[in-house]
Amino acid sequence: MAPPIAMSTDQIAELIDAYAKAAARVEEAGVHGVEILAGNGYLHSQFLSPVLNQRLDEYGGTFQNRIRFLLETLQAIRTATSSGFALGIRIGDSSDQRILSSEEVNAVAVRVQSEGLIDYLNITHGDYYFHVDRYAGMDQPVGYQLPFSERIGRGITVPKIIIGRYATLDDAEQALRAGDADLVNMVRATIADPMLVVKGREGKASEIRPCIGCNQGCIGGVFAGRMSCTVNPAVGFEATLSEANIAQG
Ligand SMILES: Cc1cc2nc3c(=O)[nH]c(=O)nc-3n(C[C@H](O)[C@H](O)[C@H](O)COP(=O)(O)O)c2cc1C
Ligand code: SF4
Repeated sequence: MAPPIAMSTDQIAELIDAYAKAAARVEEAGVHGVEILAGNGYLHSQFLSPVLNQRLDEYGGTFQNRIRFLLETLQAIRTATSSGFALGIRIGDSSDQRILSSEEVNAVAVRVQSEGLIDYLNITHGDYYFHVDRYAGMDQPVGYQLPFSERIGRGITVPKIIIGRYATLDDAEQALRAGDADLVNMVRATIADPMLVVKGREGKASEIRPCIGCNQGCIGGVFAGRMSCTVNPAVGFEATLSEANIAQG
């Protein structure tokens, strides 16, 4: 029996069905795949955590029970979409390893991979309980999540994606050459300079405006109700201020 405040099994089934239907709609709309955000403290990672998941039914307790919600979600999406439709998960540990350790997340990743339920693994770190570790500030180095992603990615053979303060294409290239991952996510870097990749391709890397990791405009702005960027005044005003709209003299 689940505790009274827990989601009922009917609600869990309804949610899994909603994920599957949403993925099918995404495919119908012409998109090539979906990703389940099963990390960062969101619902699936709460089910996975032996600390946060207090359920007493088949969705709580043992590892097999805690992973059930994620497995059923991915299975339902596979059934609702075609074989060529990509399915991935974004997953990560908590900065408080008691909540969700790198080793537990690795076990989850290995399990979903062994069941053929993921085409790639997108690795993250930190959650709402340790907010700043998700988007480290300027006190943290490039690749600050690597010690965690290395542990989480052990035994994974599908393509791996990593993240963590990669601000320039050179930073990302270094991680790829070192074999740390197959792809590098760059979130704040592309807020600071949405033309990052274009400039790199055109041999204008020196013109890239790097993210400085201040967190004031982007994440600070989101929580204050209006997103901006300290080094990119066009954020929020792209229609008039983006570089594409500024004539080169
Ligand atoms: C404005 C903003 C919004 C974000 N929103 C989410 C979110 O909704 N869910 C999530 O898992 N991560 C979110 N993130 C975290 C990023 O996906 C990423 O993990 C984090 O910024 C670290 O990567 P970076 O160093 O390349 O920026 C957000 C980050 C920023 C800056
Ligand atoms: S406000 Fe801009 S420069 Fe500062 S962390 Fe966010 S994206 Fe980077």
